[in-house]
Amino acid sequence: MPALRPSVRVRIIAKQDLSDLAGLDHEVFPDDPYPVSVLRQFMDTFAGHLLVAEDNGGLCGYVLATPPNAGESWIFSLGVAPTSRRQGLGRQLMSEMLMRLRAEGTRTVLLWVEPRNARAVTLYESFGFVPDPAGPRKNHFGPGEHRLLMTLTL
Ligand SMILES: CC(C)(COP(=O)(O)OP(=O)(O)OC[C@H]1O[C@@H](n2cnc3c(N)ncnc32)[C@H](O)[C@@H]1OP(=O)(O)O)[C@@H](O)C(=O)NCCC(=O)NCCS
Repeated sequence: MPALRPSVRVRIIAKQDLSDLAGLDHEVFPDDPYPVSVLRQFMDTFAGHLLVAEDNGGLCGYVLATPPNAGESWIFSLGVAPTSRRQGLGRQLMSEMLMRLRAEGTRTVLLWVEPRNARAVTLYESFGFVPDPAGPRKNHFGPGEHRLLMTLTL
């Protein structure tokens, strides 16, 4: 695994990060970014479950999960800025989140991934996430938006 840049720090989101987070989300998911209003509400609702990677004052990655509910948590989003990819940041963000979720009592972690997103699927499999044997669910997130459920038992 490549070494992280020493200047990168993973931390919980802070209120003043909202516009940087919106910019990052736009960069990571240009076709389908979250509206700022949704990011704001995620920050309010899931504060301790929104981790960001900061490098020299700017945000270069984030991961968002739900707090455990009956032992289950969902990963809503994981993204790394294009210029910061393949440096171990996605893995680092996911590791930190899983460590926190485990400590909070999460036993099962679930997520939806676009089935052709090989980078993400490979990353999740390397953590032990198992794809739904039934395969991708058609139009799960709307017309043409097929998604594969992946599950990890902690
Ligand atoms: C998926 C994503 C978060 C990975 O972040 P990253 O910081 O580049 O990932 P890392 O450097 O930590 O790599 C972790 C593992 O992911 C996999 N991976 C990442 N990029 C890959 C690529 N281009 N090709 C193949 N595997 C890749 C590898 O298994 C890699 O492990 P390795 O370096 O030991 O081979 C990043 O590519 C991204 O933000 N993509 C756009 C948003 C997205 O698709 N998010 C997931 C939505 S469900």
